[in-house]
Amino acid sequence: SKDNYILGIETSCDETAVAIVKNGKKIISNVVSSQIESHKRFGGVVPEIASRHHVEQMTFVLEEAFDQAKLTWDDIDAIAVTEGPGLVGALLVGVNTAKALAFAKQKPLVGVHHIAGHIYANRLDEEFQFPLLALIVSGGHTELVLMKEHGIYEVIGETRDDAAGEAYDKVARMLNLPYPGGPQIDRLAAIGQETISFPRAWLEVDSFDFSFSGLKSSVINKIHNAKQRGGELKEEDIAASFQASVVEVLTEKTWKAANKYNVKQVIVAGGVAANSGLRKALDKKFEDSNIPLLIPPLKLCTDNAAMIAAAGSIAFEAGKRSEWDLNANPSLTL
Ligand code: KG4
Ligand code: ZN
Repeated sequence: SKDNYILGIETSCDETAVAIVKNGKKIISNVVSSQIESHKRFGGVVPEIASRHHVEQMTFVLEEAFDQAKLTWDDIDAIAVTEGPGLVGALLVGVNTAKALAFAKQKPLVGVHHIAGHIYANRLDEEFQFPLLALIVSGGHTELVLMKEHGIYEVIGETRDDAAGEAYDKVARMLNLPYPGGPQIDRLAAIGQETISFPRAWLEVDSFDFSFSGLKSSVINKIHNAKQRGGELKEEDIAASFQASVVEVLTEKTWKAANKYNVKQVIVAGGVAANSGLRKALDKKFEDSNIPLLIPPLKLCTDNAAMIAAAGSIAFEAGKRSEWDLNANPSLTL
């Protein structure tokens, strides 16, 4: 069949991103404008600032995506945009841009779930084999998703409180490390020792759910107590011990679920998939099994629009179209 070129737009959090992807698999251009510097001094993403940045950056990012691709609007078959979940004001900029462009250029419009995008970031590298298990670990999400076919998602486990990335960011904040804390903890953990035994929240025996708030509290207590007693507590050791707890639970639950559901492939997605400790532990766990493990390159782990175009392409091929009433939905379910 004919090639398709999908323009993807992503603005759910603090990256303004536009990409063009061919047939859902080949990145033609992928432009990401990060706002991290603007949010850093507040220690986290400020929704109002995020929305304003998206408005300011969008036309430049869009133009750059076409320049890099050396394509024109005539080449574009459809526009895919993140409709949720995320910050409502941030999402609205992407959704309204996509609707305006779809109307002006007379292109079909396809709304995409942000997590479906993270999952499809993996398909830019390799074809999916079903059933597959996806571990999604980001600042807002921690989920195990079973997929038996394209576009159909069964959530078999999820966090009951904090997301993994959120726990990383909160612990980093306690250690006075800059936002986003994940990469900072990752860097420290690599030079620290696991001297503290933090709890692992396994929950019920056969549960694939997660919980990170207990771990977070125990790290905070440890830091607090050490400060009060004037004791020595090396921040790299806290980082290493905290990371060991997060990584062990994520790895073990993924392994158990992969075996229980007899999956043909395991994929990892979301910002925390960039974590070197997690990548190493998962690689080791799946190395000798016959279940292939896919982790996207760092650039495709964090928010981008190529992943939205990739997920949008599959939806577009399956005939999915969004209407003019497409709206930002901050709590959209998968
Ligand atoms: O997927 P993402 O870019 O945005 C969301 O959809 O949330 O994920 C961002 C999250 C942040 O919490 C950040 O601290 C975390 O991913 N992160 C990491 C690493 N790189 C980013 N966490 C641990 N280790 C890393 N190397
Ligand atoms: Zn994300």
